[in-house]
Amino acid sequence: MSKNKSSIKTKKAKLIINNHTYEFPIYNSTEGESVIDISKLHSLAKIFTYDPGFTSTASCESKITYIDGDKGILRYRGFDIEDLANKSDFIEVVNLLIYGDLPNKEQLKKYKELITRHTLLHEQIINFFQGFRRDAHPMAMMVGVMGALSSFYQDSLDIGDAHQRQEATRRIVAKSSTIGAMAYKYSIGQSFISPKNNLSFSENFLHMCFSNTAEEYKVSPVLAKAMDTIFILHADHEQNASTSTVRLAGSSGANPFACIAAGVSSLWGPAHGGANQAALEMLEEIGSSKNINKYIRKAKNKNDPFKLMGFGHRVYKNYDPRAKILKKISRKVLKHVGVKNDPILKLATDLEKVALRDKYFIEKKLYPNVDFYSGIILRAIGFPPEMFTVIFAIARTAGWTAQWTEMIEDPIQKIGRPRQLYTGEKFMVYGKNRSKKNTK
Ligand code: CMC
Repeated sequence: MSKNKSSIKTKKAKLIINNHTYEFPIYNSTEGESVIDISKLHSLAKIFTYDPGFTSTASCESKITYIDGDKGILRYRGFDIEDLANKSDFIEVVNLLIYGDLPNKEQLKKYKELITRHTLLHEQIINFFQGFRRDAHPMAMMVGVMGALSSFYQDSLDIGDAHQRQEATRRIVAKSSTIGAMAYKYSIGQSFISPKNNLSFSENFLHMCFSNTAEEYKVSPVLAKAMDTIFILHADHEQNASTSTVRLAGSSGANPFACIAAGVSSLWGPAHGGANQAALEMLEEIGSSKNINKYIRKAKNKNDPFKLMGFGHRVYKNYDPRAKILKKISRKVLKHVGVKNDPILKLATDLEKVALRDKYFIEKKLYPNVDFYSGIILRAIGFPPEMFTVIFAIARTAGWTAQWTEMIEDPIQKIGRPRQLYTGEKFMVYGKNRSKKNTK
């Protein structure tokens, strides 16, 4: 148990099993729900807890991100997400997440230089890309190339060395944008564009995606700001599926590049980061506001697997604060690119209105999440839907590396090893017991 946790221990919880009473300490959070420490439960009572999907389980102690799902609050290191989106920039947010407080001007300048110097990739990685099919999903390339970094940057694999850990986190954040842009270029059959060190992180990403060997892309400040805000809003979200994946992979001592590749894989799923692509594709499928009721009915039908993509959240039982910010930005960006009446934005706002008035969505507290409006902005910037989750992954490298670092530096860190409720066969004798089910 870390010193911090024991100092905020206040009460005890009692658990009675077969007339036997067991006591467990309760730790108070600085904000939000307290936790019962049941780590001694099995050794005391020879029983496990059962919580599929971790709906009531805190897997770690963390000081990085705070969410109040009922009030719709998201804070990084105590700073409100809206404040950061309006006043900060992505690299300052990365620094804040990893180091714990806001850097001064000098520290920030130095950190930006460090990140910028790491945006180049080893030349051999170009060969690595050639192995993918041209129609590969860019997330498939992200997973593969991110994992492959461990073979190229072997001087930052020693997780016991603080300097190497920091070097690895900077490499991951910086190189993720170059890998993402390369995946895009590869998928459209264009040459890779080298990063430019005089540009900001977001400007540089847009440059690597949209410049080509014949023509330089002129980065608009409005689009660069929108891009940067999208990166800030997606930078961390406490112990979600991909972050927990990174922590679990890292708990075995795996190198940071391998852990982040695991996080990218987990993010890809449509219930998580893949929802931004799925939300835009869903809006395109709905096509027009006159079809909204039909799709709302489908979403409510228990026998239909269809869900309203970009709606609902495990933690937010109120409007996702990130969606609020993105809704505002989507209008600005569309105006900037000259789209006066975007039918998809109109459809999205109409769908939101209908859903938020519907009894099913009200009772289940299903609100638009970060993925509902981000696709509209990214599409207006010029990205195809397949790139949306890649952009989410680039941003989330900030949170993943911060959370991975916190885990490695936590003195009580041990390998993650959940247990199970076994409901399989009892002892079987080979040769005697043959399955009758295995005949199909
Ligand atoms: N459309 C229709 N019904 C829904 C939706 C939805 N989008 N989301 C949840 N429900 C229903 C669900 O069927 C369940 O109904 P019942 O109680 O009758 O079984 C109830 O609401 C509670 O949902 P849940 O699936 O138990 O909630 P969860 O916390 O396990 O899942 C979620 C959260 C985000 C996976 C889910 O809301 C969902 O699949 N949403 C659509 C995908 C999406 O937008 N994902 C992005 C999440 S935010 C970004 C990120 O994390 O990466």
